[in-house]
Amino acid sequence: MRDRLEELRRRALERIADADAGALDELHGALLGRSGELTALLRGLGGLPAEERPLVGRLANEVKSAIQEALEARRDELRRAALEADLAGAGLDPTLPGAGRPPGAAHPVLAVARELQDLFRSLGFVVWEGPEVETEEHNFDALNIPPDHPARDVQDTIWLVDEPGRPRLCLRTHTSPVQVRALRELGAPLQVVAPGRVFRQEAQDATHEHSFHQMEGLVVDRGIGVPHMLHAMSVLLEHVFGRRIETRLRPGFFPFVEPGFELDARCPFCRAGCRVCKGSCWVELMPGGLVHPHVLEAAGVDSEEYSGFAFGLGLSRIAMLKWGIDDIRWMMSGDLRFLGQFPAQAGR
Ligand code: DAH
Repeated sequence: MRDRLEELRRRALERIADADAGALDELHGALLGRSGELTALLRGLGGLPAEERPLVGRLANEVKSAIQEALEARRDELRRAALEADLAGAGLDPTLPGAGRPPGAAHPVLAVARELQDLFRSLGFVVWEGPEVETEEHNFDALNIPPDHPARDVQDTIWLVDEPGRPRLCLRTHTSPVQVRALRELGAPLQVVAPGRVFRQEAQDATHEHSFHQMEGLVVDRGIGVPHMLHAMSVLLEHVFGRRIETRLRPGFFPFVEPGFELDARCPFCRAGCRVCKGSCWVELMPGGLVHPHVLEAAGVDSEEYSGFAFGLGLSRIAMLKWGIDDIRWMMSGDLRFLGQFPAQAGR
């Protein structure tokens, strides 16, 4: 009986080692099945003398496990071989390293926007967003921009719907319409910043792009004046550049503010023949002013009771100054050679 079991194990393992997938199923039945060879042998156990039974029984179990393991191992081997053949057929080499995912980073404009949003939130401002497709009323009329203003011209503005009897729609040319939207929805008093993308019909060059990013700031309350505006602007600049920046204020004209200003900063990069400021040592940073009473009234705010200041910040421009980027067209290029230069910690 023992010899027959040993003999069965030897033959079984040999046959299993050579079997293909179909033969394996048959072998399983022929060895371990109800009328299989091992089963038949085990049936003879009862006829053995009582003292031999335990030893032979143990051997029979060993043989059974060995056969089961060999069947399993062969099955695995065949599966793996089939998979490898498939992969090789598809031109895949499973031993090559996987395609890694390099860590991403925030786009420089997004990084600046987030930094400023955090700052303004900490000062009690609300972050408000308006739509990129805007009505003529929000983009121009409510901002006191007269109907014949050249900014409304197709040369400057990308118009979308311009049909008699329907409201004229354009791609917003600035974030200032969000002043009107926020005031109408939230009312005065109000402190709000509105980051977003704006669009112009532009001939592109190193400083002009058809799409770029701005951030509007607006504070409306009782007794707001120019000193409040100057303070907000200098806090903002100090935060962005990490140090005090020397500034100067020039008069500037925008229909939605009175008086209006242009804030220039002492060029943060200035060296002899500096490209950033073109040698003037000053860079235009931020227009702003006291909100025109017409704008407050158009938004439903009593201009006798309230006054306010507003500013428009070029986010693209700030990012360019912060990182010394010399061509605005990189910003919307989607070029990874450019984007890959901004460390992950610049964003979050
Ligand atoms: N909206 C203006 C532009 O895009 C920028 C601007 C100027 C915004 C003066 C303001 C402001 O809030 O007070 O050119």
